[in-house]
Amino acid sequence: MAERAIGIFDSGVGGLTVLKALREVLPAERLYYLGDTARVPYGTKSSGTVLRYAQEAAGFLVRHRVKMLVVACNTASAVAIEAVEQRFNLPVIGVIEPGARRAAAVTRNGRVGVIGTEGTVRSGAYSRAIRALDERIEVFAAPCPLFVPLVEEGWGEHEVASLVAREYLAPLIDRGIDTLVLGCTHYPLLKATLQRVLGANVTLVDSATETAQLVASLLGKRLVLRRGEACAPRYFVTDEPTRFKRVGGAFVGVELGDVTQVDLGRAHG
Ligand code: DGL
Repeated sequence: MAERAIGIFDSGVGGLTVLKALREVLPAERLYYLGDTARVPYGTKSSGTVLRYAQEAAGFLVRHRVKMLVVACNTASAVAIEAVEQRFNLPVIGVIEPGARRAAAVTRNGRVGVIGTEGTVRSGAYSRAIRALDERIEVFAAPCPLFVPLVEEGWGEHEVASLVAREYLAPLIDRGIDTLVLGCTHYPLLKATLQRVLGANVTLVDSATETAQLVASLLGKRLVLRRGEACAPRYFVTDEPTRFKRVGGAFVGVELGDVTQVDLGRAHG
């Protein structure tokens, strides 16, 4: 079991922030990453559609005999985590719960902001998860749809990103938040910009790094951590790989190597 890969999926390149965080804490693990690039974005789609896409992506990785699933996409985690857990008989970790835990632990004034896609914010999933941990916490959520294309353009630290961030974050700043959950795969690449706009007193919570920590502790408890040499991740995408390689390489900071195009509808991809 320890030798099997961890399966990670996302709507596209964004989940590579989770893959990168996993590689930092678990360098010996085999990682299979699936980006549903033919159907990205998930963030603007209805929950029913995202649920179906998530089941298909999970099914593909389960057929590749992974030992656990990481739903790296916040939108998919927000609407599909229970359904994926119920359907497949293996451990499933999404990014919402780890981010929510961290936010509830670090807020000092009980006022937490959450930013994400339209779908994530509409679902109310972060708010529910945070308030389930501490119902005294007030959660203020704002969709920030322009951040995804800005990051994919490589403009996370461009002044355009600062302007957009000021617009999106103004209502959260007015609410006096002291903690902001980065509830979307792409937002870790905006950290410097967001911190500048919010000021040093607001703590940023990165769901990607929190998720990686939780995966490490879960595999450790189940005694299925892989030992030995580090090995390169395997990448699967549902569209032609050129753009994924280019944009994804910038996300991870190294060239991605082999990327295989697959059809989720076919039993063996
Ligand atoms: N991966 C998505 C998320 O974290 C962002 C991109 C999309 O909308 O598909 O919500």
